[in-house]
Amino acid sequence: MSQLPTLGTPLSPCATRVMLLGAGELGKEVLIALQRLGVETIAVDRYDQAPGQQVAHHARTIAMSDPAALEALIRAERPALVVPEIEAIATPVLQALEAEGVVRVIPTARAARLTMDREGIRRLAAETLGLPTSPYRFCDSLDELQAAIDGADGHKGIGYPCIVKPVMSSSGKGQSKIDGPDDVPKAWDCAMAGGRVGPGRIIVEGFIAFDYEITQLTVRALGASGEVETHFCDPIGHVQVGGDYVESWQPHPMSGTALERSRQIAKAVTDNLGGQGLFGVELFVQGDQVWFSEVSPRPHDTGMVTMTTQWQNEFELHARAILGLPVDTSLKTPGASAVIYGGVDAQGIAFDGVDEALRLPGTEVRLFGKPESFVKRRMGVALARDADVEAARVTAKAAAARVRPRRRAED
Ligand SMILES: Nc1ncnc2c1ncn2[C@@H]1O[C@H](COP(=O)(O)OP(=O)(O)OP(=O)(O)O)[C@@H](O)[C@H]1O
Ligand SMILES: [Mg+2]
Repeated sequence: MSQLPTLGTPLSPCATRVMLLGAGELGKEVLIALQRLGVETIAVDRYDQAPGQQVAHHARTIAMSDPAALEALIRAERPALVVPEIEAIATPVLQALEAEGVVRVIPTARAARLTMDREGIRRLAAETLGLPTSPYRFCDSLDELQAAIDGADGHKGIGYPCIVKPVMSSSGKGQSKIDGPDDVPKAWDCAMAGGRVGPGRIIVEGFIAFDYEITQLTVRALGASGEVETHFCDPIGHVQVGGDYVESWQPHPMSGTALERSRQIAKAVTDNLGGQGLFGVELFVQGDQVWFSEVSPRPHDTGMVTMTTQWQNEFELHARAILGLPVDTSLKTPGASAVIYGGVDAQGIAFDGVDEALRLPGTEVRLFGKPESFVKRRMGVALARDADVEAARVTAKAAAARVRPRRRAED
């Protein structure tokens, strides 16, 4: 499928209308990139005044996991493209509407469906494509989990240590590491409490003692011939705490073999998912060995660093690719990002110290504008550029630490 929406004039009968499903900090940047190309934007989220809704032409608030509500909205708005920005969407509706020719889904409705839970994408990567992954089993009860770890019915056990994750969750929610038999019930309870759609299925994965992990941003965009071409950004290194990203940097140094294997894996997965757009392929690396972990068919949180490190950041690359425009994935400068957490549970918080953060040379700060803060909610990000990536990491973390969120009542 390589037909392109013609670019038009927003808020006129010839507007090119694009709907973002999910309007958090990543969606907000995609919306800004689309608006710079004269696209009329519709930002959908489950709560009012989501970051992307504050910058889009139109804001809509619905439960995107509700099939009837999602279908009604898409039929009413009739956008040229629907761009999922989160996983928790009624993806069967997207598949049905795409099949009916009502809408084009980015990158494809099938990709959105396969990546919305861990089972679809893991089975595709490991069983269909034969890519290296951690050993894994899917389980529906504590007994099944114990049997998966110990081995049963001719299956080799996953063993210890291992990691348990709800099949439907993100940002590390419900995820825990099991070091021995005593941890198993705790890990099961943690997964049941943290899953997105209530109690359900989990994946147990063998623990990979990787040297480092990277995000390989991969773009499927149209070339001059009208055929899809695959482009790779420089590898992004990152640190996760409790399954949630806290800092990232680009480029991450890698051996030639590890880089080549990473790109082969990224190409295999994104070729299969198809369509046009940017993907975040998460990989674990030990020496020259590379394991596929998961993939987002959309910009990736660790890729926020590209707002300072690339000529075209991951959001601009996504916007260009989905509109059928050429892309340039080259690096501008080494750099790093560090997350700014809310630190307080409160509505309408204030941020002190942004001036102090920006006094550090080569830094930028993005505050997402989320109406409500939680202690561990990502409220902003500090970016730093430097000739040396390690120096940039130090500066980004220092800048993030200088930003101090607080309740307004303390004014
Ligand atoms: N099998 C594993 N072995 C070692 N570490 C792992 C394994 N699986 C996950 N991790 C660690 O936990 C992090 C989060 O895991 P994963 O990406 O599967 O969860 P997630 O909830 O989808 O996170 P996010 O939404 O932030 O990408 C990984 O980036 C990695 O640091
Ligand atoms: Mg992940």
